[in-house]
Amino acid sequence: MKRLHLKLNDPAFILNPYPKLELLRDTAPVFWDEVWGKTFFLRYFDIAALLRDRRLGRSLSNVLSRDELGFPPQNPLQKPFDDFQALHMLDREPPDHTRLRSLVQKAFTVSRVENLRERIEGIVAQLLEGAGTSFDVHGVLAEPLPVQVIAELLGVPEAFRAQLRPWSSAIVKLYELGYGEIDMIAASNAVLEFSEMLRGLVEERRIKASDDLISDLVRVEEAGERLTEAELIANCILFLNAGHEATVNGTTGAILALSQNDDARDLLATEAATNPNNSNLFKTAIEEFLRFDTPLPMFERWVLEDFEFTTKLGEVVLLKKGQEVALMYASGNRDPRKFSNPDSLELSRSENAHLTFGLGTHYCIGAPLARLEMQVALHSFLKKIPDFKLENSDLEYGNGFVIRGLKSLHVARI
Ligand code: HEM
Repeated sequence: MKRLHLKLNDPAFILNPYPKLELLRDTAPVFWDEVWGKTFFLRYFDIAALLRDRRLGRSLSNVLSRDELGFPPQNPLQKPFDDFQALHMLDREPPDHTRLRSLVQKAFTVSRVENLRERIEGIVAQLLEGAGTSFDVHGVLAEPLPVQVIAELLGVPEAFRAQLRPWSSAIVKLYELGYGEIDMIAASNAVLEFSEMLRGLVEERRIKASDDLISDLVRVEEAGERLTEAELIANCILFLNAGHEATVNGTTGAILALSQNDDARDLLATEAATNPNNSNLFKTAIEEFLRFDTPLPMFERWVLEDFEFTTKLGEVVLLKKGQEVALMYASGNRDPRKFSNPDSLELSRSENAHLTFGLGTHYCIGAPLARLEMQVALHSFLKKIPDFKLENSDLEYGNGFVIRGLKSLHVARI
């Protein structure tokens, strides 16, 4: 296995990681990163196999303690963050994961989510109403839409909404590699304040339930042993964060991709003018945007027991209990062994089993909601300015790779 170092936080890599990922996929599809201390996988079929392999998991704590691993004690500055991480479904493994996920699964089924279409259309119409024909589509549409939708779904009142984005940004900073003490403090403070706000809402729902997800979860918690209050709060924070971060970046990524491809832009604009937002072309186009520019390019897994992993092409990789692997979904999504012409944007691509929502146990619970929001947002945007062009002279991304997205995207009618 090759040993090298991938500078994930290099602004040039964040700006456009795809050429480097292509090079690595060809020359070092599995490599040991000496600085991050992880084995990286870049090919589609290897990533897909590892995501389905129960010898890997998102959490190691049910297998080994930090002491047993020889890890230094956790930094007390990030204790509130670590406590939160230990309680939400994304970082739990079965049976706890199964219990937590089944409590909320029904809120996110395709049919329950479909009932939100009209409401989402209303929110998008409102957001675009005063926007004119030259505006920052990130600030006007892509960012506020998913924040408002997930806040309404949970039942977070308007007064608290302005805080959701800053809290979430501080928390997700610790999902990046190579964060510092200032980030730990900011994330921990955000967890504490966020929890405090949610605790207040839980108390209110105990007195008077409403038609929202927090009320549903309070009912489960009061009914018995399936959910503790601490788990309820941690999972609500997870939904509020996961429920918007990637959708914001998926939406701006889609509009950016269209701005760089006139034929695709014209095709989808014509579709928007003549067909509804759930037409076949809109559905395949959203999948293609999500494949083409992956909003969450990389996820990690812990190795839960020693084993030899054989890649699809026959290389044998020894994985040791307590190590981490980094799975490059963004690279798998451009792997020519899986996708024909992977670097071209083909809006009607029909074979499109991308990795963007993950695979296996932790497959994104919010995928139907994210798809719906993107269909409505793109459709209304293209109806408003079908012949748009980019106004940004330089593209500026946030400084993380794990949650990769533009800070703004200025567009104008041609
Ligand atoms: C374009 C938008 C989205 C993308 C790209 C995305 C991507 C993902 C991915 C890749 C995972 C699995 C993580 C892993 O493999 O380790 C995941 C899990 C999750 N996502 Fe999403 N997501 C999106 C939108 C949403 C929305 C709208 C929600 C709404 C609540 C949501 C909630 C969650 C939750 C709760 C999990 C954890 C599931 C589990 O552990 O069983 N996501 N997401």
